[in-house]
Amino acid sequence: MRKIYIFDTTLRDGEQSPGVNLNTREKVEIALQLEKLGVDRIEAGFPAASPGDLAAVQAVAGAVKSATVIGLARAVERDIDAAWEALKDAADPCIHIFLATSPIHRKHKLKMEKEQVLATADKAIRYAKQFFDKIEFSPEDAGRTELDFLCEVTEMAIKAGATVVNIPDTVGYMTPAEFGNIFKTLKENVPGIETIQLSAHCHDDLGMATANALAAILNGADQIEGTINGIGERAGNTAIEEVALALETRAALFGAKTGLHLKEIARTSRLVSKLTGMVVPGNKAIVGANAFAHESGIHQDGMLKEKTTYEIISPETIGIKESKLVMGKHSGRHAFREKLLDLGYELADDALNVAFAKFKDLADRKKNVTDDDLLAILEEKLVDT
Ligand code: KIV
Ligand code: ZN
Repeated sequence: MRKIYIFDTTLRDGEQSPGVNLNTREKVEIALQLEKLGVDRIEAGFPAASPGDLAAVQAVAGAVKSATVIGLARAVERDIDAAWEALKDAADPCIHIFLATSPIHRKHKLKMEKEQVLATADKAIRYAKQFFDKIEFSPEDAGRTELDFLCEVTEMAIKAGATVVNIPDTVGYMTPAEFGNIFKTLKENVPGIETIQLSAHCHDDLGMATANALAAILNGADQIEGTINGIGERAGNTAIEEVALALETRAALFGAKTGLHLKEIARTSRLVSKLTGMVVPGNKAIVGANAFAHESGIHQDGMLKEKTTYEIISPETIGIKESKLVMGKHSGRHAFREKLLDLGYELADDALNVAFAKFKDLADRKKNVTDDDLLAILEEKLVDT
């Protein structure tokens, strides 16, 4: 099985979610949990952004022992100096330098010609090399960059000393076929590409961040960048838990796996949600409250007979104790009987029929029927007979 490296940017791109602001203590707490989860690389922040961010990256660098700790920098000396200041005491430091390469960014944001972009990135990577052994370079908005220019940029980055070239779909514009083709093209055309790692960094503006990351893996990407719960700028980033579970569940298809300790996923998700204040939607894949909850009678009956009828992942895999059968108007008699057994009641058929009719009547009026509601029905029933 090929190993896919996980680059977690919850503390940097994730923190760029509107309304999120993590203090140093919170960043360290999340970083230590990410280490337990087994991520390979942790992007701790953008040291040149503010003295507070520099201090937070420094604190994460001091606390984390087994993962590489990374700081983001624009392709300017001031940012690279700040990143080194923040990371020099890390067990395994790395700098992540980015510069936009797409025609839209070149024209409107940078006001640079292609040659200036190449020269600026080259100079920055060479400058960083005096401090860092590990350098990741990102051509920002790579998804909307001309493919031949992207090949040129990648070749320049390798020659200048980058150890990872990351391909960001900065605005979440790519489809899986297009994004996969970028990796295939780079692999086939860039001299020296086998000497570095290729990475994918996707945003979810069109809801394709995970699909695009998986397409990159199928076309040779070595590393996936993402965040826990998929938080991040605008619609967010690739959700790391989704990539890890897709590789785990469809191992034969991808022939690749992460080194994550999957049982830590639920705990990590809860911690990130608590400290960022970003609530995980109930229907979010893998970590949403409903991801292992079943409501319809047909599904509940199937689950009671054999879990794999309606579950492709067991909740224990990600550190959740068990699936839930939610009692509502779609629930059937089989699940109702099991639920009562769980609550300690075994009813004869006649009594069960009466209780079930009362339950259905209540479920028509109330979205979720709780354990207390069921106990009330049972008590009512006992008084009636
Ligand atoms: O989305 C993006 O382009 C980024 C870069 C800094 C890699 O986050
Ligand atoms: Zn990003």
